[in-house]
Amino acid sequence: MDFPFKRILSTENETKFVADFFSKTLGGCDTVLLTGDLGTGKTFFVRSVCSNWGIENVSSPSFAIVNEYHNGKKIFHFDFYRIKKVEELFDIGFEDYLSRAEAVTFIEWADLFEEVLPKNNFHVHFDFIDNFTREITITKNE
Ligand SMILES: Nc1ncnc2c1ncn2[C@@H]1O[C@H](COP(=O)(O)OP(=O)(O)OP(=O)(O)O)[C@@H](O)[C@H]1O
Ligand SMILES: [Mg+2]
Repeated sequence: MDFPFKRILSTENETKFVADFFSKTLGGCDTVLLTGDLGTGKTFFVRSVCSNWGIENVSSPSFAIVNEYHNGKKIFHFDFYRIKKVEELFDIGFEDYLSRAEAVTFIEWADLFEEVLPKNNFHVHFDFIDNFTREITITKNE
C-alpha cells in the first residue's frame, strides 16, 4: 500500500477489502489513529483489520476506554470519545500501553487528545459521503 492512500468506499465489502490490504502493511508495534464523524466506520475498520488476524469479537471500547485482544498478536483498541480530561488517560496508564512495543494500538477519536499521540503513526480518516459510501484517507507519519 502506498501512502497517502485515498479511495471511495461504496460498500462495507470495499471497506473490508481496504482493511485487509492495510493489515498486511502493519508491523507488530504500529499505532493507528482513526478519525471521522460519528458512524463513519472507525470501529468497522478496526473490526475488519482484526478479523484478518483471527480476532472476531471486536466491539466499540467507548465505555471501557480500552479493549485488549490477544491472538498471537496483541491489540490495544482505544476510544477517546468519552474522555473529558487527559488525566483520565494517564490514570489508566496510557503511556505504559504505548511503550509496550509488541502491540498494535488503534485509537478512535485520536484527534481529541493530540498531545498524547506518538509522532510515528498511521492516520486513517473517514469522510461521510452517504449512508453506504465513505471516503477513506490513510497517511503514514514518521
Ligand atoms: N462503506 C461502508 N464502510 C464502512 N461502514 C459502512 C459503510 N456503509 C455503511 N456502513 C455502516 O456504517 C456504520 C459505521 O459504524 P461504526 O461504529 O464503525 O462507526 P464509528 O466511526 O466507529 O462511530 P463512533 O464515532 O460512534 O465510534 C456501520 O453500521 C456500518 O455497517
Ligand atoms: Mg467507533
